Amino acid sequence: MNTSSDFTSNFWTIYTAVIVIASFIGLVWLLVSQNKTKRTGDKVETMGHEWDGIEEFNNPLPRWWFYLFIITVAFGIVYLILYPGFSSFKGIKGWTSANRYENEMAEAKAQYQPIYNKFANKSIEEISKDPEAKVIGQNLFNTYCIQCHGSDAKGAIGFPNLTDNDWLWGGSPEEIEETIRNGRIGVMQPYGGLDPFPQDEVTNVAHYVLSLNENESFRSKANADRVAKGKIIYDQICFTCHQDDGKGLPGLAPNLTDNVWLWGSSEKDIMNTIMQGHTNEMPKWENFLVDGDDTAKLRILTAYVWGLSDHSKDPAPVATPAEDTATPVADTDSVVVGDDGVVKFYFASGSQDLSADAGESLAAILAGVAEGKKVVISGFHDASGDVAQNAELAKQRAMSVQKTLLELGIPEDAIELKKPESTDAGNEAEARRVEVSLQ
Ligand code: HEC
Ligand code: HEC
Repeated sequence: MNTSSDFTSNFWTIYTAVIVIASFIGLVWLLVSQNKTKRTGDKVETMGHEWDGIEEFNNPLPRWWFYLFIITVAFGIVYLILYPGFSSFKGIKGWTSANRYENEMAEAKAQYQPIYNKFANKSIEEISKDPEAKVIGQNLFNTYCIQCHGSDAKGAIGFPNLTDNDWLWGGSPEEIEETIRNGRIGVMQPYGGLDPFPQDEVTNVAHYVLSLNENESFRSKANADRVAKGKIIYDQICFTCHQDDGKGLPGLAPNLTDNVWLWGSSEKDIMNTIMQGHTNEMPKWENFLVDGDDTAKLRILTAYVWGLSDHSKDPAPVATPAEDTATPVADTDSVVVGDDGVVKFYFASGSQDLSADAGESLAAILAGVAEGKKVVISGFHDASGDVAQNAELAKQRAMSVQKTLLELGIPEDAIELKKPESTDAGNEAEARRVEVSLQ
């Protein structure tokens, strides 16, 4: 903002001050000068026009009107003494638009914090049922979310519907909270023009996609001949993300068999997706919804969004184990845990097969590659058994991850296999892993 003090000379300060003072004096003079009844001799002057014998006297303003003007002038003077407005004078109250904003924020915090605190120890499910939280959640949604997801949260092309039970990134309270806090990037790479993808093949795969649908209305649009040809391509490329049955995996790729379409359901829409791909970003909201370690706003909004969606088909809730007894790595299953920066793939003892729930970790890697990062893969094994055999197993595990990444369409030169200094990482399930870091 420019104030007159920004100028090197005092000219504008004085100039505006003189104008303001002159206007006040001028106004008062005008008011007072018009405040007398004008007479010629003892005859009151008229305005000079006459109609049917009726004349208008040149009388002063009515009293009440005159004093109203005087009060207005007095108000103006008092205002300019208290608040900024008179040239560069800042007013004796020291008001600025910035401190007004801060005061309002502090007041709002004082007003809402006790309400937020009420929800601090409640579960997302409980919060979602609280009428007060619903109102706050809706307000937050209207402030931050409707421009993309719509006022009814039903989304639009490219912006997912949040009211169904179909989730790109998972619909549990924890997954929704993570989506809102840190954002998500969905990447389907473009296949247009790539070998083996002439236009005709794209049409074939699109028909195969239609044929996978659980609804007759989509299946009936698929041409049997094209479906057969499209399946060959699908089984080479698409199944890695969308899975053999087309049902996809949360965090990796959407379900293609339902009637929920992010990018449209016509043959042309599907072909466009295949040829042009999509990189679709849900922004992160942490900076707006989390204040230090106060996550109340985030949790209330998460509860609101969770409450919007359809839970009629949810599996019965399973008791979650207490945090200190839960091990991130089960001993027999190959589970996958995404860590900060480093994605870890865990394997069953003696096995080199990637677990089925690797989806979200793979998606994190794909997003990193889309940003131009390089993937570095290292394999490890546990200390049991023969040393040479174990080193080979660690290598096989790394290669199994590499193969999956290649199948996902990551170019070979973006992947590096790196043998760690020691592949022996102890005797835990934690040791049987492949680490992928993005550099
Ligand atoms: C700038 C547009 C934009 C805004 C604003 C936005 N989102 Fe999103 N959101 C997206 C996009 C795009 C996706 C889908 C990302 C993808 O394709 O993987 C998404 C995905 C989501 C998902 C995951 C849906 C699923 O199927 O797993 C949730 C939940 C979500 N948004 C909630 C919110 C909430 C809550 C807000 C307000 C704080 C919000 N979004 C604001 C664009 C936006
Ligand atoms: C690397 C994993 C990956 C591969 C491989 C892949 N997709 Fe996708 N696909 C995705 C993701 C992720 C999305 C969602 C993009 C988004 O969030 O906007 C998607 C979206 C789609 C959609 C749009 C779905 C909708 O709801 O509108 C279609 C159709 C589709 N893929 C078909 C294919 C076909 C056919 C192939 C094989 C040629 C293929 N995909 C290969 C990850 C993949």
